[in-house]
Amino acid sequence: MSMPSSPAGESRHIDLPLLSRVGLGAYPLGGPDAGGDAETRARACLHAAHDAGYRWIDTGEVYHDTGNETLLGRIDLRVLAVATKVAPAPAGSGLRPAQIRAACRASLKRLRRDVIDWYYLHWPDGSHVPLVESWGAMRSLVDEGLVRSAGLSNFGIDQMQQCRTVGPIDVVQLGLSLVDHHDSREVARWCGHHAIAVTVYEPLANGLLSGAVTPSTDLRAWAARDVAAWPFFQRVLTGDSLTRTLTILNVVHEWSKQLGTPVAQVALAWALAQPGVVSVLPGSRRPDHIRCNGGAADLRLPPEALAALDQVTGFAK
Ligand SMILES: NC(=O)c1ccc[n+]([C@@H]2O[C@H](COP(=O)([O-])OP(=O)(O)OC[C@H]3O[C@@H](n4cnc5c(N)ncnc54)[C@H](OP(=O)(O)O)[C@@H]3O)[C@@H](O)[C@H]2O)c1
Repeated sequence: MSMPSSPAGESRHIDLPLLSRVGLGAYPLGGPDAGGDAETRARACLHAAHDAGYRWIDTGEVYHDTGNETLLGRIDLRVLAVATKVAPAPAGSGLRPAQIRAACRASLKRLRRDVIDWYYLHWPDGSHVPLVESWGAMRSLVDEGLVRSAGLSNFGIDQMQQCRTVGPIDVVQLGLSLVDHHDSREVARWCGHHAIAVTVYEPLANGLLSGAVTPSTDLRAWAARDVAAWPFFQRVLTGDSLTRTLTILNVVHEWSKQLGTPVAQVALAWALAQPGVVSVLPGSRRPDHIRCNGGAADLRLPPEALAALDQVTGFAK
């Protein structure tokens, strides 16, 4: 798998050889009680990912109520680097410095590791914990060697500027896909200018851009399968946004046909081509899908395809 060439790839703070262009979103693997033989299935997925050139996995303390970290720890495949996150209370441990330090040690224990490769604040704290204090705690974890790189997920540029008064930001995780989270594109560009690596979650828009959904699929019925997808449904599949989503879906499928490349790879390669983006982390619990998605690492979309996709998403200048 080739290494990133974007400006963010020049970051002094990132151990770049670990950050392959495609990482595995581990959330769909669930926890140890995920049903069936969760551990065997997850083990097969992690091995498929490694064989396909993935070099890192993404989890979080809140994923399946810490169970996702526990499951990954049981598999203990250390050739894959790991990203995890501490979340604000009450969903997570909380972002006060003492809470962050305790959360980091608890994640290390569950993951059975001595160091977390990328440790993120999962989302901004809506309470009164000053962000600069949280960020100071994150930087101390790096200084103490418990964390290799410290990052922010779902934060805006103003908040990142506050953090940078305390210490560098190594990595940022944002939602972005052809159909959703379009505001992230400017944030990613800003990060690229500041040598901060950007990794992208939900690059397949919860499976909408995976190829499993076609322009003739009943999208409302498809979305209804998962109540948790409701905010996504509101953003992407109602009113005017539904028309736009369908148009985008059509264009992606056309380019997939024209290039003879799976739809999922076209969607992932588009995300990888966005300014500042270094890596994408599609989630999957199926080895065949994981192998397919890994193929996006080496796919460079032709300029005409990128132009057509920028046109249909509204990003064309
Ligand atoms: N930082 C944050 O706030 C945040 C938020 C959300 C997610 N995340 C991270 O990002 C990761 C990815 O997000 P996500 O999993 O929600 O969304 P996603 O990657 O956009 O989509 C995952 C869905 O696509 C399907 N899929 C994946 N590859 C496929 C393929 N080649 N063909 C057909 N279907 C395919 C998966 O089903 P199968 O299992 O059947 O393949 C799954 O239903 C998560 O696992 C998590 O680690 C982070």
